[in-house]
Amino acid sequence: MRTDDAPLIRLEDYRPSDWLIDTVDLDISLHPHQTQVRALLGLRPNPAGQPGAPLVLDGDDLTLGRVQLDGAALDDAAYSATSQALTVHAPPQRGFTLTIETTLDPAVNTKLMGLYRSSKVYCTQCEADGFRRITYFLDRPDVMSVYTVRLEAAKAEAPVLLSNGNLVAAGEVAGSDRHFAVWHDPHPKPAYLFALVGGALDKVREDYVTADGHKVELAVYVEPGKAGRAGWAMDSLRRCMRWDEAVFGRNYDLDVFNVVAVSDFNMGAMENKGLNIFNDKYVLADPQTATDGDYASIEAIIAHEYFHNWTGNRITCRDWFQLCLKEGLTVFRDQEFSSDERSRSVKRIADVRTLRTTQFSEDAGPLAHPVRPRAYKEINNFYTPTVYEKGAEVIRMLKTLIGEDAFRAGMDLYFERCDGTAATIEEFLACFAESSGKDLGHFARWYEQAGTPTIVATGRYDAAARSYTLDLAQTTPPTPGQPEKQPVVLPVSLGLVGKAGDIPLKTGSNAYAGDGLIVLDQPSVSVTFTDVMEPPIPSLLRGFSAPVRLELDLADADLLRLFSADSDSFNRWQALQSVATRALVSAGRKGADQRALSATAGALAGALDDFLREQALADPAFAAQVLRLPALADIAREIGGDVDPSAIHAAHRSLAATIGTPLVPVLLELREALGTGGHYKPDATSAGRRALRNEMLGLIAIADPARGTQLAESQFAESDNLTDRLAALAAMTLIPGAAREQLIERFAKTYADEPLVLDKWLMAQALIAEAGTLERVKSLMQHPAFSLGNPNRVRSLIGGFAANLTQFNRPDGAGYGFVADIVIALDRSNPQVASRLLGSFKSWRMLEPGRKALAEQALAMVARTPNLSRDVSDIAERALA
Ligand code: ARG
Ligand code: ZN
Repeated sequence: MRTDDAPLIRLEDYRPSDWLIDTVDLDISLHPHQTQVRALLGLRPNPAGQPGAPLVLDGDDLTLGRVQLDGAALDDAAYSATSQALTVHAPPQRGFTLTIETTLDPAVNTKLMGLYRSSKVYCTQCEADGFRRITYFLDRPDVMSVYTVRLEAAKAEAPVLLSNGNLVAAGEVAGSDRHFAVWHDPHPKPAYLFALVGGALDKVREDYVTADGHKVELAVYVEPGKAGRAGWAMDSLRRCMRWDEAVFGRNYDLDVFNVVAVSDFNMGAMENKGLNIFNDKYVLADPQTATDGDYASIEAIIAHEYFHNWTGNRITCRDWFQLCLKEGLTVFRDQEFSSDERSRSVKRIADVRTLRTTQFSEDAGPLAHPVRPRAYKEINNFYTPTVYEKGAEVIRMLKTLIGEDAFRAGMDLYFERCDGTAATIEEFLACFAESSGKDLGHFARWYEQAGTPTIVATGRYDAAARSYTLDLAQTTPPTPGQPEKQPVVLPVSLGLVGKAGDIPLKTGSNAYAGDGLIVLDQPSVSVTFTDVMEPPIPSLLRGFSAPVRLELDLADADLLRLFSADSDSFNRWQALQSVATRALVSAGRKGADQRALSATAGALAGALDDFLREQALADPAFAAQVLRLPALADIAREIGGDVDPSAIHAAHRSLAATIGTPLVPVLLELREALGTGGHYKPDATSAGRRALRNEMLGLIAIADPARGTQLAESQFAESDNLTDRLAALAAMTLIPGAAREQLIERFAKTYADEPLVLDKWLMAQALIAEAGTLERVKSLMQHPAFSLGNPNRVRSLIGGFAANLTQFNRPDGAGYGFVADIVIALDRSNPQVASRLLGSFKSWRMLEPGRKALAEQALAMVARTPNLSRDVSDIAERALA
C-alpha cells in the first residue's frame, strides 16, 4: 500500500476497543519454515465500547488455519479473513473464546518484526505492531491480557525456550525429539510486550533479592561461546535494579528476569515483560571487542529496558500517540542512572551533544514533529530523537520547575494511581500538578508544539543603580503543520558571575523562582537584579536547563572567562563551544574568508593551554569533552540555509589545525603523564583518561600528521584494548596515505572473526571526509564482513556514510543517489531499516541550491518507486512536503 492510500491515524479519533481480551493461551510449535501457532483468546465486550460491534482482529501477512468459537468450528459465513484482518461479523454479546490457528515461516521473515530467526535463534519483536504477524489479535496497547505460553521445539535446535513471566512446566514430548516449556505471566500486558526465544544459547546467571525481599533469578543469554562477554551486562543489570529501588522505590515483580542477545535486530533493545531482547551490540563486552563507549551504552540500555518494567510495562500507553509517556520518561531515568554511576556533568554534556546533533536537526527540518505527534501513517517512524530525547528533556524541565520533592511525590502518585493501566500524558501530568500544587496546563504545550525554541538574551548593567537587567525573549520557528507558535514554559537556570564567583541573586521580579531559576513562560520577560556591585557575566541555561537555542551576545573574552570561572561545569564547557561555534559559523558560510578564524583560534589555544596544564588531569573525562569541537551538523544547522558542507568542513579542519599546532607540546606531555593506564578497566575514571588521551591524539593527527601517524601506529601495536586501538584507527582516518591503508588492513586481520568490531571498522572508513569515500564504501559492500541483511552492518557502513557530512552531500549528488538506491533495495526486505536510512535526508532543505536540487531528485526517485513500504513512503512524502 502506498502512503497516499494509507490512512492517517489521528489522536483525536481515539476510541476504546469494542472488545477486550482478558486471557491469551498460546501454543507455539517452532519450526524454521512451518511454525504452528494456536491462540486461544478469552474475549468479552468492552463496557466502554460500542455494543453489538463486530470483532475485527488485526493481522499482517498471516496464513490462517482453523477458527473456533467456544471450541466449535465457526461457519464460513460467520467470519471473513484476509492476511490483514479477521472479522467475526456477529459475535455473541457476552464472554466467549476464539481459537485461531496460523502458520508462520520465521526463516523468511526479513522484516525482523513478529517471529523471526536470527542466526538460528527464534526470537520476536512485537513493538509497535508485530504481534499481528504471529496471530490475529486486537493489536493495540490498551488491550491488556494475561498470557500463558506453551512453546515446543526440537531439543537439538532449541534447547532453550523462553517467554514472558515465570516458567511453570517443562518436559519432553513423548516419542519425539521435541521438548516443551510453559510460561505464565501474571501481569496483564499489551501484545507488544509479548516475546519468545528459542535456540541454543549460553547462559550467565545470578541470584538477586529485591529490596522488598523477593528472590529473582537474573540471566543473560548469548550465542554459544560468548558467555565470557555477558558479565558487564549482568553487572549493569544488578546495579540498575538496586538504583531503581533506591531512587524511585521500584522493585522487580517476577521470579526471573531474562536478557537475550540476538545478532539481527532492528533497534537497540526491547523491554518485553521479564524477557528483554537485545541487539547483541548492547550486551556483549570484553576489553578486546568493546570500547569504553560500548560499555557505557550497554550500561545505559540494560538500565533503560529494565526501567521500562515500571515505566512502560506496569504502566503502559493507552495508544501510540502516548509513546513518549514511556520512552521520554525511561530515557530520563536511564540518564539519571548513568549520571549517578559516572560523572553527572560529563554525562550531561554527552547527552546535550546527542540532543543537538540528532533532535535539534530533526526539529529544524521537514520531519519535525511534536513530542506527542497528533497523527501518523506509520508509527514505527516515530521512534525518534524527538520522542525519546526531547521527551526526556521535558521530564527534566518538569523536575526543575516543581523541584525534587514534588517530582518524586508525583512519580509515586503515578505509580500508585496508574499501575496496571494504559495511561495518557494527561494522567501523568495530573499526578505532578497534584504533588506540586501547580497548574501544568501551560507546561503541557511542550508535548504539542514542535520546533526548537530560541531564547534571545540581552543584559544591561546600570553602574549608578548597581543593578543588572536581563531581558529574555522566546520564539519558536514554524514547523510542518504548525506555522504559528505559542510561548512555552522555559526554566532558565542562571548565575551572574563576578570577579569572586557567583553574585548573590536578589530581585523582586516574579519571573524569578529563587535558587537561580527564571521561569520564562511569556514571549518575553525582564528581570532586574539589585545589589550587583560590578558588571557581571551572565551564565544562562546552566546544566542546559531547557532544550533551546540561546542567543546571547557575549564577547569572546567574557566567554573565555566563563570557561575558567563558571561554577557550573556544563556552562564552562558550553562557553568554549560557543566561542568555537561562532567562529565556525562565520568561517563556514559559503564563500566565507577562512582567515577570520585565526584570531579566535589563537584565543582558544591560549585558554586550552592553561586548562590542559592546570586542570585536565583532575578531570580527564571533562577535559576530553572540552577539547572536542562542535559537530559539523551543529554548525550546518546554525548556519541554517545555503549550507555548503565542504566550507563547513574546511573551516572545522582549519580551526582544529590552528588550535592544535601550538598545543602539540602540551598534548604530548599530557599524553605521557596520563600513561596507558595499565590493565584495562571499564570504569568511568579509567575511561575518562583514555578519552582524553585519544581526543588529544585526534588533535595531534590534524595538527602534525607525521607525529600523529607515529603515535597512532604505536598505540595500535601496543594497546591491549579496543578503545585505544579504534582511536588509533580513527586518528589515522584523518591522514590520507599508505600508512592509513596499512592500518586499515591490519585492523581487519586482527578482528576478522568479530562482526561487531568490524562494524566499527566499516564505519570509521565510511566517515572519511574525502572524495574517494563513496568508492571505498561501494567496495566494502563486497567485503565478507558486510551484509545488507544485517541491520548493524547496514547502519555501520551505509548509515555511517549517510552521516558523513561532506561525502553524503557530495556536490555531484552521487552520495544521495547511492543512499537512495540502497533505501529502495532494502525496502523490499526490511522497511524499518530502510526508512531509518532515508531519514538521513532530514536536513536537505537547508543546503545550497545545487546540492538541494540533487537531494530532492534522489528523494523524488525514492518517492515514485512502485510498491514502497508504508515506512519508506511516509518518510519520503514528509521529507518532500
Ligand atoms: N521500546 C523499545 C525501547 O526503546 C524500542 C522498540 C522499538 N521498535 C520498533 N520496531 N519500533 O526500549
Ligand atoms: Zn524505551
